[in-house]
Amino acid sequence: MAREGDTGCWCCCWRVLVVMLVMMVGAASAKLIYVEENLPLPGEESPPGSPWPLPREWSQSPLQVTLDPTTFIISADLLGCNVIDYAIHRYLNLTFIGGDTKADVGLPVLPFLNVTVASGCDHTPHLNLDPNYESYTLEITQTEEGVSGRLDAHTVWGGLRGLETFSQLVHIAEPDNVYRLNVTKIKDAPRFPHRGLLVDTARHFLPKNILLDVLDSMAWNKLNVLHWHIVDDQSFPYESRIFPNMSLYGAYTPRHVYTQGDVMDIVEFARYRGIRVIPEFDTPGHAQGFGKAFPHLLTPCYGDGKTAGTPKYPFHAAYENLDPTNPQVYDFLKAFLVDLKHTFVDGYIHMGLDEVFLPCWNSSPVVHEFMAKHNYTEVRDVEQHYVEKVLELAELTPLNYITWQDPADRGTKMQNTSVAQVWKDVSLSSKMRGWREYVRDLTEAGHQVIVSSCWYINYITYGQDWKNFYKCDPTDFQGTPQQKALVLGGEATMWGEYVDATNLLPRLWPRASAAAERLWSVPLSEAPSVDIAAYRLDQHRCRMLRRGIPAQPILNGYCGEWEVPQPTTSATNPPAEAPAGDQTQGESQGDQPSSAATTVAPPAATPAPEATQNESTGGAGTR
Ligand SMILES: *[C@@H]1O[C@H](CO)[C@@H](O)[C@H](O)[C@H]1NC(C)=O
Ligand SMILES: *[C@@H]1O[C@H](CO)[C@@H](O)[C@H](O)[C@H]1NC(C)=O
Ligand SMILES: *[C@@H]1O[C@H](CO)[C@@H](O)[C@H](O)[C@H]1NC(C)=O
Ligand SMILES: *[C@@H]1O[C@H](CO)[C@@H](O)[C@H](O)[C@H]1NC(C)=O
Ligand SMILES: *[C@@H]1O[C@H](CO)[C@@H](O)[C@H](O)[C@H]1NC(C)=O
Ligand SMILES: *[C@@H]1O[C@H](CO)[C@@H](O)[C@H](O)[C@H]1NC(C)=O
Ligand SMILES: *[C@@H]1O[C@H](CO)[C@@H](O)[C@H](O)[C@H]1NC(C)=O
Repeated sequence: MAREGDTGCWCCCWRVLVVMLVMMVGAASAKLIYVEENLPLPGEESPPGSPWPLPREWSQSPLQVTLDPTTFIISADLLGCNVIDYAIHRYLNLTFIGGDTKADVGLPVLPFLNVTVASGCDHTPHLNLDPNYESYTLEITQTEEGVSGRLDAHTVWGGLRGLETFSQLVHIAEPDNVYRLNVTKIKDAPRFPHRGLLVDTARHFLPKNILLDVLDSMAWNKLNVLHWHIVDDQSFPYESRIFPNMSLYGAYTPRHVYTQGDVMDIVEFARYRGIRVIPEFDTPGHAQGFGKAFPHLLTPCYGDGKTAGTPKYPFHAAYENLDPTNPQVYDFLKAFLVDLKHTFVDGYIHMGLDEVFLPCWNSSPVVHEFMAKHNYTEVRDVEQHYVEKVLELAELTPLNYITWQDPADRGTKMQNTSVAQVWKDVSLSSKMRGWREYVRDLTEAGHQVIVSSCWYINYITYGQDWKNFYKCDPTDFQGTPQQKALVLGGEATMWGEYVDATNLLPRLWPRASAAAERLWSVPLSEAPSVDIAAYRLDQHRCRMLRRGIPAQPILNGYCGEWEVPQPTTSATNPPAEAPAGDQTQGESQGDQPSSAATTVAPPAATPAPEATQNESTGGAGTR
């Protein structure tokens, strides 16, 4: 908790002109202090305990009740349903983070929250287009009979979403350090069924515990799909059951491997949070990782024009793509794909099929021979040959598939359950079109789509770039209602070229929260302005800090006492009373970034330096 004294001292040492907007903030515990030099922040403050993402219908009341952490119960009408039992356990914990916080003796006490799930227990979340699949209503009422809380959901997954909201409504009031909760009625359902986050464990390995943190924090943002870009050119950390030497030779080291046990733990952890885990095994490009154990599955490029397996930098490496002319490639993939169903429980797999780097194939006489035999006139036809064969193989597995948009752009015929993921945008390359045009054309052709183009959260800029993510809307394109209904949602992407365990979480949150709200809550046209959302997002950021996730700041100020790392011992640090040196430093640095919070960050269309490569020169980092 922030002590009053902290604020006073900190304030008087801040010698520049400061307008302080002090507000009590909720579930984030303690006081959240906003500081803006020269200009007050635009927008309106959110009351303590404001949820993120915003519920669809939220009736608020100024009436308040309290909770007693020693007696409060969450009970469910489902007996022995693990998903709900574990969630109750988890949310009791998350609701009452706050150490010495107690019930407010002056207020009526909410004794319990009763959860009902209409459709009974369920164990595995899946893609479900019914909006009731994750819907819930949450009511905290106060009548003459007393205070009561109820959460009604159609499925256990709706129950989880409602418990998350409940835990966010409960807040800690200063200065008495007591739990409070307003009388509330919420009726909520997701806008889209597919609300994803891509993480990349090939460019840099992400330890299992970080992936579990990602899953936990995804659930706090009501995201429900982890798109696991698990392997790529750089490494192959996935331990295959049937081809264990792929990770033996393809991982950076034996330490940088997800064993079958690790993967199953991750899938299981996700399942309890209502999150689907969809692995991506990208081919025929981005596939050098496959070649470490199976070199003969890759096409040797002829970089010098005559020798197999020679590079031509910067155009291609010695080996780039799987070899579409080699029948063993298809036998291998069939076995590999069929086996995945054993480990990954979701009904979908991501097949990649993007950014195939054609100059290597084009350099190969073997590929040209193959073209002649099939009467193909262009190397693109060879890619298409591969794509069609591999999609046929996928149809032999019990898995449905997602692919990057590339094959759908070319009019490839796909299963009607398939999903095309839109990643291209003119901001990535001047050879591409705006993402809205791709979504328009793909839905016009009848494809289901998910959108990522405007949520490349791996690209960082100075200032409040979350506002650009917040302002992106996947159905913001010219199309009929039928076309818009084919948009299943979207995914924020965190490509891993410059991301590992040191910076993943701060870079992810709360920037991905902006996409999460767009995917869960109302369309942009009905949404609060970014200036209003900023206050609620700042609370949410503090809430994540409080729950142990190092989410980065979006405004000047501080989150009560929840910043990391907090000095907990004086063994290596000076006493807690802020040393003068720190404050001087704060002052001089305070002048400079003052524009950060008031200046709108550059528009999303500004390409990041590593984003300006040509589409055809593909390779790592283009996406
Ligand atoms: C909760 O009640 C307090 C006190 O009446 C009020 O200031 C605040 O705006 C309410 N919060 C919400 C979320 O309605
Ligand atoms: C919540 O869980 C954490 C981690 O397991 C534990 O340290 C903490 O004591 C728990 N808090 C409560 C209130 O149960
Ligand atoms: C709500 O749960 C409490 C505690 O488990 C129980 O005593 C009460 O009967 C329940 N009320 C309803 C309406 O189900
Ligand atoms: C990996 O194992 C396969 C058999 O599953 C074998 O054909 C291949 O040669 C092995 N790779 C290496 C590099 O030993
Ligand atoms: C290629 O074209 C030749 C001549 O038109 C034809 O005889 C042959 O059947 C074609 N081959 C394939 C695989 O389509
Ligand atoms: C796909 O086609 C099948 C049978 O033709 C139909 O029952 C199903 O509803 C279709 N699914 C989608 C997502 O369009
Ligand atoms: C993009 O392509 C153009 C034309 O093919 C070429 O001149 C240019 O150098 C390429 N740029 C990069 C960054 O590869």
